[in-house]
Amino acid sequence: MLKGKKILLGITGSIAAYKSVFFVRLLLKAGAEVKVIMTEGAKDFVSPLTFATLSKNKVLSDLFDEDTWANHVMMGRWADVMLVAPASCNTIAKMANGICDNLLLAVYLSSQAPVLIAPAMDEDMWHHPATQKNIDTLQQNGNAFLPVNKGELASGLTGEGRMAEPEEMIKYLTGFFEKKNDLKGIKALVTAGPTYEAIDPVRFISNHSSGKMGVAIAEELYNRGADVQLVLGPSTIKTDNGIQLKKVVSADEMYKACIKGLSTYNIIIMAAAVADYSPKIKSSQKIKKKSEEFSLELKKTKDILFEAGKRKSSGQTLVGFALETNNEKENAIKKLRRKNADLIILNSTNDEGAGFGLDTNRITIFDKNGKEYKFPTKTKKEVAEDIVNTIIQYRNE
Ligand code: CTP
Repeated sequence: MLKGKKILLGITGSIAAYKSVFFVRLLLKAGAEVKVIMTEGAKDFVSPLTFATLSKNKVLSDLFDEDTWANHVMMGRWADVMLVAPASCNTIAKMANGICDNLLLAVYLSSQAPVLIAPAMDEDMWHHPATQKNIDTLQQNGNAFLPVNKGELASGLTGEGRMAEPEEMIKYLTGFFEKKNDLKGIKALVTAGPTYEAIDPVRFISNHSSGKMGVAIAEELYNRGADVQLVLGPSTIKTDNGIQLKKVVSADEMYKACIKGLSTYNIIIMAAAVADYSPKIKSSQKIKKKSEEFSLELKKTKDILFEAGKRKSSGQTLVGFALETNNEKENAIKKLRRKNADLIILNSTNDEGAGFGLDTNRITIFDKNGKEYKFPTKTKKEVAEDIVNTIIQYRNE
C-alpha cells in the first residue's frame, strides 16, 4: 500500500525524533519515497546526516539554501502526504496560527497534500487548553492527528503525550492510503463496548465486551469516507482521531447519546453489549456487607436498537447484533423483526474464534428480506469489512 508513495516527513524538536529514524527505515522498506524537512530544534536531537543517509535524499531545513531559495511550494506538491512526526507543542501552535518562520511551516502552509500530525510532548502540555484549542483548530482546517500513546515521558513522568510508535505510524499511513471514499456523504452512528450499571460508588454490573468489533466497524466506515459518530462504553480501545467519539458509562447515557440526532444518520450499527438490566436504586454510599444473603432489584434498561427501529425513517439502515447460545438463526431473525432492524449480525457462542475480547470473529448476517450471508472466522478488521460491504449491498438493492 505504501509502495511508490511520496512521503514528506517534517521533524521538529522533540526527543521522539529518534523514533522517526526507525520510521524512515520502515517507510523505505515498504517501498515509499521519503524527503525529510527538519526544524533547527530537531537537529539538537538527531543529526540531519542520519536522515539524509537513510532517506537517500538531502535533508532540508532552511528557507534559503546557500544562495538558492528552497522551493517550498513544489515540495508540498511533490508529496502524496505530509506527516509531521514528531510534532512539538511549539510547532503545533505555529501551524494552528499560520506562523511561517521556518521551512517546515512554509511547506505546511503551501501544501496541497493532506497533512497528518503525530504529536509528542509531556502530558501537562498535551492537556493544556491552549494545546487542545490549537489541535481543534488544526482539525477544523482539515489536518488529521495520529493518537498519542500513554507511557513513560521524557520528563520521567508517566502519562499521555508519547508519539505513536513507528509501527503504529506505518499502520496509520497504510489505513490512510486505503481510504476508499465510497461512503463519502454518509453519516453513521456506531455503538460499541459494554456498559457499567452502578450498584454503589464502587461496584457495577457489566459484561465482557471489549468494544473491539464495534470500533473496527467505526474505523472501516471512517476509512471509506463516512462521517462517523462512535458512542463507546467503558473500553480502553483507541480509535482513529477522525472518528467523533462520545464516551459513555451506563446504558442510560448510551441511550441519551444515541437518541440525540438519531434522525440525521444514514447508517446505524448497534454493536454495543448494552446491559439489559440496571439496579433500580444506586446507593450513594458503599453498601456494607451485613446479612448472609443480599438481593438486588433490577429494572430494564431502555433498548436503544428497539427505539431506533421505532423511529426509523426511510433511507435509514438499522443494524443490530445478536449473541446467541441456542436456536441461533431463529432467535436472531426474531430479534431482527422485533427491533425493526434491516440487518442482524449473529454471533454464536458455539463458534470457535468468536466471542468477547478475541481478535477474531465469526458471523452470519440476516437481512429483513430473508437473505443470509455466512462468513468464515476472520480478524475483526476483516469482519468489519464484510459487515460494511453487506450493508452497502443491502442499501443498493
Ligand atoms: N441493544 C440496545 N439497547 C439495549 C439492549 C440491546 O441497543 N438496552 C442492542 C445491542 O446493541 C444489539 C442488540 O440490541 O445490537 C442485541 O440485543 P440483545 O440484548 O441480545 O437482545 P435482547 O432483545 O435483549 O434479547 P435477549 O436478551 O433475549 O437475547
